[in-house]
Amino acid sequence: MAYPYQIKSLEEYQENYKQSVMDPEGFWANVADHFYWRRKWDKVLEWNFKDPDVKWFTGGKLNITENCLDRHLGTLGNRPAIIWEPNDPEERHRVITYRDLYNKVCQFANVLKNNGVKKGDRICIYMGMIPELAIAVLACARIGAIHSVVFGGFSAQSIADRIQDAQASLVITCDGAFRGNKDIPLKSVIDDALMGCPSVKKVIVCTRTRTPVSMIKGRDLWWEDEIKQVETMGNPPCSAEEMDAEDMLFILYTSGSTGKPKGVVHTCGGYMVYANYTFVNTFQYQPGEVYFCTADVGWITGHSYIIYGPLSAGATTLMFEGVPTYPDAGRLWSIVDKYRVNILYTAPTAIRSLMGYGLGPVNHKDLSSLKKLGSVGEPINEEAWHWFKDHIGKGRCPIVDTWWQTETGGIMITPIAGVTKEKPGYATLPLPGIQPILVDENGKEVTGNNVNGNLCIKFPWPGMLRTTYGDHERCRTTYFATYENLYFTGDGCLRDEDGYYRITGRVDDVLNVSGHRIGTAEVENAINMHAGVVESAVVGYPHDIKGQGIYAYVITERQTHDPELTKKDILQTVSRIIGPIAKPDKIQFVSGLPKTRSGKIMRRILRKIAEGELDNLGDTSTLLDPVVVDEIKKGRL
Ligand code: WT7
Repeated sequence: MAYPYQIKSLEEYQENYKQSVMDPEGFWANVADHFYWRRKWDKVLEWNFKDPDVKWFTGGKLNITENCLDRHLGTLGNRPAIIWEPNDPEERHRVITYRDLYNKVCQFANVLKNNGVKKGDRICIYMGMIPELAIAVLACARIGAIHSVVFGGFSAQSIADRIQDAQASLVITCDGAFRGNKDIPLKSVIDDALMGCPSVKKVIVCTRTRTPVSMIKGRDLWWEDEIKQVETMGNPPCSAEEMDAEDMLFILYTSGSTGKPKGVVHTCGGYMVYANYTFVNTFQYQPGEVYFCTADVGWITGHSYIIYGPLSAGATTLMFEGVPTYPDAGRLWSIVDKYRVNILYTAPTAIRSLMGYGLGPVNHKDLSSLKKLGSVGEPINEEAWHWFKDHIGKGRCPIVDTWWQTETGGIMITPIAGVTKEKPGYATLPLPGIQPILVDENGKEVTGNNVNGNLCIKFPWPGMLRTTYGDHERCRTTYFATYENLYFTGDGCLRDEDGYYRITGRVDDVLNVSGHRIGTAEVENAINMHAGVVESAVVGYPHDIKGQGIYAYVITERQTHDPELTKKDILQTVSRIIGPIAKPDKIQFVSGLPKTRSGKIMRRILRKIAEGELDNLGDTSTLLDPVVVDEIKKGRL
């Protein structure tokens, strides 16, 4: 059997789960045994959640790329590792076998070495969804450089913040990226970002769109020229750097309730084992199946379930450059048809948006290859769940609603496709090794079923974050200080009468807009940068397609302004500071904000107004200026 740790029945799930709680070290050692380690670990787990200090497989030596590439060459060398579908359906697709990928990763790893990159250096990757992005990621891992991928939709300012925080020495980018009918000038964004980033010594630019770019002498290099140089050296092999299990593999920035995104750190050994285990089990991957995850590699889903999980399992992973609605709303279904996709993993926001186009784009597409469906990133509403089930899966395919986070490294609570029961709107049950617990505001455990609480995890798992880059204290206060001895997820959760978990959404000031995680404070900071803005407050509200929309209440300097123009300017400012994904859907100009006597903004009231719950605002008598609430209610958009 290809994956001896693949759970095949409900009984086996129950047994595995029990064992994973009774003897977590034994359980994970059994899984980890099926990987290629240069040296086996001395100790499976050392931990405390107080500092926090979590170490898995200490003393173990490995390189994740030897597990994703080298170890498959003998048996799977000619099997497609990556199938790449371009943005334009008329352009030729690419199939990259495991052997091709191995060669390309070694080649580019040598490029990095030729440019002075060493183990431990931080490399910022800002590229579109082309195979070279996966190659760049793996090449970093090959030589022990720490990658920090930044999503192609982030602004120059956001990139600069991330580069400075990580003190990255090299940037890998493209001239541009194709996304739908847009051509995003990535290199020019990088040029703007780098004005304030003295740590960056080199930029490697991969050709994709042929958009004109300005190359800075001594700093900027073409990917293709650098590859030629390695070829003239006779394409020497690139042996993998021997990494400690707890050496950093990557940093991925994510938003929290404060203004500044934090660099979530994942390490080599535990992350590898967890990404692989969760991939193989959740999707019940079978050798030869074609697996398609529609996420972007700029998010954790792309890291774990386009690159590391599937490739470490020797799977065929389909990478799509474009968007689900280009050239039409049938694009995903055409891709499924074209490549006989067996597993499709996508986001509720995509399903909801495609649902809106009716069945026209689905009809006449052959979806009979599909065996398993997955959903990730936000709660999936029942209507979208059923549409996915009936019209895409034709009632034949299990749907796995996978709950997890950037910080968890991999899937935590989910059905196991075709093995455990599913329930619309529910992530259902924890995977083996995951011990969820619900607590009330005071941190007291909420026991029994049919209960609500804040979702925490009470025992470490191999894929969990180890720190936030450069600021361990922030990691402690954000995740481990709210409730003693627990990892706090920031999510609210319901456990139903059967013990199934349903994630109800964030309980902190974090929004989930189309599956993108955005902090309200971040958006407020950006809005406040605008010269005419005095103060602002941002909240989320239910949005039919995006899940949550962004509602901004803004106080401006003079009331004589042209509101439409100011709105445009504010949107432009937010785009520039964060990126287009953070643009508010609604901006309401107000003369004041509801504040407590101590000056704290009462977001609860603003949220209720944005949601349209005008009669149910609770006690407003303690406000500094209760009259302002009526004004805001009247002006509601
Ligand atoms: C937040 C994490 C997990 C990778 C993509 C997002 C929400 C995620 C689900 C789900 C309900 C979900 C949570 C979580 N979320 N998956 N299946 N059902 N909510 O990663 O950007 O780190 O966001 O996304 O609120 O905390 P992320």
